[in-house]
Amino acid sequence: MPGLRAPSDYSQEPPRHPALLVNSKEPFNAEPHRSALVSSYVTPVEFFYKRNHGPVPVVDDIDKYSVSIRGLIEHPKELYMKDILKLPKYAIAATLQCAGNRRTAMSKTRKVRGVGWDISAIGNAVWGGAKLADVLELFGIPKSSNKSPCGGRHVEFISIDRCKEENGGPYKSSIPLSQATNPEADVLLAYEMNGETLNRDHGYPLRVIVPGVIGARSVKWLDSINIIAEECQGFFTQKDYKMFPPSVNWDNIDWSTRRPQMDFPVQSAICSLDDVNNVKPGKINIKGYAVSGGGRGIERVDVSIDGGKTWVEASKSQKAGIPYISDDTSSDKWAWVLFEAEVDVPETTEIVAKAVDIAGNVQPENAEVIWNLRGILNTSWHRVNVQISHSNL
Ligand code: MTE
Repeated sequence: MPGLRAPSDYSQEPPRHPALLVNSKEPFNAEPHRSALVSSYVTPVEFFYKRNHGPVPVVDDIDKYSVSIRGLIEHPKELYMKDILKLPKYAIAATLQCAGNRRTAMSKTRKVRGVGWDISAIGNAVWGGAKLADVLELFGIPKSSNKSPCGGRHVEFISIDRCKEENGGPYKSSIPLSQATNPEADVLLAYEMNGETLNRDHGYPLRVIVPGVIGARSVKWLDSINIIAEECQGFFTQKDYKMFPPSVNWDNIDWSTRRPQMDFPVQSAICSLDDVNNVKPGKINIKGYAVSGGGRGIERVDVSIDGGKTWVEASKSQKAGIPYISDDTSSDKWAWVLFEAEVDVPETTEIVAKAVDIAGNVQPENAEVIWNLRGILNTSWHRVNVQISHSNL
């Protein structure tokens, strides 16, 4: 691909914030300390988690960079940045969450395979770009269609990074054509993050954002868009990011029995406290995030200071000065809410948070019941321990 190039080693990685907690250096996988997530509704780019499967691509000449649109369409063509910039620009607030968020905690019940993440493989950004539905319309695929005139039913996004899981080939994945062509689904070809040009770690010059869906489908460093009849056959769609029952292990797994994970379930976590904390008796302000997939708003966040026996409801917010109403047009439907509750903690205890979305879906009580061998979608109640100390801290 002229303009965009994939290094075969890690000698050309971009600079990163030194405060990030690095879970794997090569490929670079890192998350901020949890407290950074509740400092602002929009996560600053430098504290946004980075999830890579290979060396970060390099742009040599942005004017030569193009995305090829091909597959089951009548007139395949290269689309240059200038063509994409001509389309209407949208700024969509959307929370991106890696399916492996909170994997480390799931491993504590029974070991799972994968990069270990605490609770910060998640972030909320304002993504700027063109709607994929507008792009596909240029290629003769009408809005809100589930089959293209040439028989395509899925839209595959192919990158250029070299991933060992793909035997040195590029990262790729797909979404259904019905979602790609639905303007309300807000699928973007994004070139901006928080009002700035996308940086290299997050997909410069162009990436896909699929709101409400696990991060794995939001392909970075886009090289081509392929209209296909069946879903993508690549590793990350067929042999990873699928949710298996607790009975499936590495000896009896049959990947073909499960569909690729798309929407993420309702999730919440406490970010103002570490897993174990020493505090003085008295009032504690508890802050965290809550989010659900598929554009489902957050109806309620419950907080308990006695391990889940009794609960109080936390307050929720998104934008300053605008009250959050879960299904109102004033709310960012693809974005998290930050929650807050002031509680009085007289003795050593376990503090718990759980969220409920507008469909009434609620987080499961423990990780055992949702355990799966790849450790994805750990959405169990989030628990932290508070040890009361009467001495000076
Ligand atoms: N796209 C490419 N080309 N290569 C990747 O490794 N990782 C995916 C997705 N898109 C990935 C990719 C995964 S698993 C996630 S969670 C998100 O990107 C992470 O995006 P971020 O690094 O911008 O937070």
